[in-house]
Amino acid sequence: MTRKKSKTPQWQDHYTRQAQKEHYPARSVYKLAEIQKKHRIIIKGDRVLDLGCAPGSWLLYAAEQAGGGGSVLGVDLTPVTIALPANVTVLTADVHDLRASAEQPLGTGYNVVLSDMAPATTGDRFGDAARSLALCETALAVADGLLLAGGRFVCKIFQGEDFKSFSEQVKARFDRMHIFKPQSSRKASREIFIIGLGKK
Ligand SMILES: C[S@@+](CC[C@H](N)C(=O)[O-])C[C@H]1O[C@@H](n2cnc3c(N)ncnc32)[C@H](O)[C@@H]1O
Repeated sequence: MTRKKSKTPQWQDHYTRQAQKEHYPARSVYKLAEIQKKHRIIIKGDRVLDLGCAPGSWLLYAAEQAGGGGSVLGVDLTPVTIALPANVTVLTADVHDLRASAEQPLGTGYNVVLSDMAPATTGDRFGDAARSLALCETALAVADGLLLAGGRFVCKIFQGEDFKSFSEQVKARFDRMHIFKPQSSRKASREIFIIGLGKK
């Protein structure tokens, strides 16, 4: 007897279906939700900067957490096409170029800097980890310049040989540093999140 094929593609796990049901454009929203539950990164009224924001799940979630009195600015190479709440704005740009520009258009005075940025993966583990690290270093440079004292930082990184030195850099700049692998992060993925609390 031949087994009847499932109509659900293999990549559609519980989190993907939940995201569709809850009208988020990506399952990655549940990673930020887990981080928020554990570390209370975003507080009502916060100004949040979301680096690598497309397709927009973290934007929607961060806007909910910051509330109407707060605001979220997202940046991504790819335009965000979903409808966004009034307290969210998006800039389509390369984060590396923003740091190079003398008059960067992001403003200052953020309570939170998030980075879920990821390079397009090539299958070359070392090259992918190096490109992820470059994005993380840019995100940390942005946080250095734009995050208020006491501010919070969340950064996704692909674990490679420089992971430890990057986590040390975060540790030096914040009162507390945590390393977190959300349950909703795919087991096979080498991604992990570095969290800095209380910018010095
Ligand atoms: C995993 S996705 C982010 C998902 C997003 N947090 C969400 O929940 O919808 C990673 C994003 O990083 C962006 N990215 C990669 N390199 C970038 C760069 N140099 N500047 C800006 N965005 C970049 C990609 O375009 C991609 O949209």
